[in-house]
Amino acid sequence: MALVHHDADLSIAPPRLGGVDHLEWWVGNARTFAGFLCSVFGFEPVAYAGPETGRPDRASYLLRQGTVTFMVSGALHPESPIADHVRRHGDGIRDIAFLVDDVDAAYDAALARGGTGLRPPADDTDGHGTVRHAAIATYGDTVHTLLDRSRYHGPFAPTFERSDLPPPAGPPVGITRLDHVVGNVELGSLERWVGFYEQVFGFSQLLHFDDEQISTEYSALMSTVVWNGETVVMPINEPATGRRKSQIEEYLDFYGTPGVQHIALRTDDIVATVRALRARGLRFMAVPSAYYDDAKARLAEVEGLPWAALEELAILVDRDLDGYLLQIFTETVTDRPTVFFEIIQREGAKGFGEGNFKALFEAIERAQARRGNL
Ligand code: FE2
Repeated sequence: MALVHHDADLSIAPPRLGGVDHLEWWVGNARTFAGFLCSVFGFEPVAYAGPETGRPDRASYLLRQGTVTFMVSGALHPESPIADHVRRHGDGIRDIAFLVDDVDAAYDAALARGGTGLRPPADDTDGHGTVRHAAIATYGDTVHTLLDRSRYHGPFAPTFERSDLPPPAGPPVGITRLDHVVGNVELGSLERWVGFYEQVFGFSQLLHFDDEQISTEYSALMSTVVWNGETVVMPINEPATGRRKSQIEEYLDFYGTPGVQHIALRTDDIVATVRALRARGLRFMAVPSAYYDDAKARLAEVEGLPWAALEELAILVDRDLDGYLLQIFTETVTDRPTVFFEIIQREGAKGFGEGNFKALFEAIERAQARRGNL
């Protein structure tokens, strides 16, 4: 676990991040999980590394849609750190990898500012060039790789070979980019983790929601959104005390530690995207039937919303001072009730669907009750 050191030197400028390069999943069966992301989410296979390409300990599939890149890795031996991670957490996100232009400077700055180094800067080189990388610890067993791929001209990184698999057929999904990546942390530790991102990475707070704003009869949470002022947007949740077990507590019980709760993917046309995803077999959270009466009242000033399609597809709507947004949440995509996706279309709004949290939680709690964990 990364702890912020009290002797951090904040006179050193924080690492400069060029955005999220990729998210790496550590899963029990990389071939099938990568297949799921391609068949159901419309990702395209880009590259592969494994024993056939000179990487004897793991299989990694690199997938892309728009600018969103996932690496999906699985262990080939029981001693593998991936196998250990899967035993403890189930399938999940191991790495939120940041692009940097100077890995050594970024790593030194992160450590000087109180971060915990997991892997000092090192080069991977082959005939296509060099990738330099290092890694910093964050919540739970999650890490931030700091990555410079600017001097590499092959498919992704050494040992990766271009995939020759055709993408599965299906209606186009239209995911364009990553919107935000949400972490769940333990009760009482939200402030410390917000402080970690402020201190180590120089992030600032974009928004905060307390448990008064985000609660139902059973469930409550507090959430603070930290960001680098550009494209790296990372909300962090901690459970708050409700009458029964909150969905954040359920996540922590099953994941075993803090970790990534959901990944929000952006689209320019959520109706078309959700139609395509449903046709491809993705399952979404149900929405309480009365939700749309309330939503139509909240969004009364926005003209031309396709209410019939939104209701048919269970797409949620929210607004803030800057505009509105449309969003939908999938069921958890892992066996343990842990990780899920959000699909989001922003029409000016910079929020995260605060007005929908209650509706979402009521839907989540119905699913939780069916599993006997409420
Ligand atoms: Fe979200």
